[in-house]
Amino acid sequence: MDNMLNIALPKGRLGEKVYDIFEKAGYGCPSIRENNRKLIFENEETGVRYFWVKPSDVAIYVERGAADIGVAGKDILLEYNPDVYELCDLKMGVCRMAVAAKNDFVDNPEKTLRVATKFPNITKKYYSSLSREIDIIKLNGSIEIAPILGLSDVIVDIVETGTTLKENNLRPYETVVPISARLISNKVSYKFRNDVISKIAAAIEEYVSEKENKND
Ligand code: PRP
Repeated sequence: MDNMLNIALPKGRLGEKVYDIFEKAGYGCPSIRENNRKLIFENEETGVRYFWVKPSDVAIYVERGAADIGVAGKDILLEYNPDVYELCDLKMGVCRMAVAAKNDFVDNPEKTLRVATKFPNITKKYYSSLSREIDIIKLNGSIEIAPILGLSDVIVDIVETGTTLKENNLRPYETVVPISARLISNKVSYKFRNDVISKIAAAIEEYVSEKENKND
């Protein structure tokens, strides 16, 4: 193994913005901007190697040490509880995990609630805190369809703008937990490469708080 710092970035709508933060914090890698299908990019000068992975896989790479650090959504961290350190909140990819239902839904607390979700662990924990009996229906996508077709009473899913719910005649019902992107670190890397990881985390944190102050 070489001495590069391996950084897992979430591919997709959040990914480019996440990379921007690393670049602005001084850890750029110009080749990443080239429009190609490559998944791994290196910058010998700053000693960083970036790779694009599925957002829900970032925590797996980091937990197992294939990546030293990475950026993962709080939803994934809460759902899979990976054994990693959470270093800072990037204050981006801000959304919330919410319960949603059909516009005319009326809850009957006496009955077991049928809940469709991609996040069974977050869902179980939430309803157990409310001492509510539920029947979990684990789906892998297009969760919004479940209450429409009568597969479930409600859904627990990510709501950002609320457009997906609205366009499917659903409404948010309760907020389960706020979500945003987090910088995470492998525990062994954090110990043995603390100098560089702390430096990156501090630079990112500074950039994030500067940006936040500007928006105030
Ligand atoms: C999430 C979520 C909703 C949508 C909400 O899906 O599952 O479908 O975003 O966003 P909105 O409130 O702005 O409409 P995502 O696009 O992340 O894809 P996924 O279904 O593959 O998780």
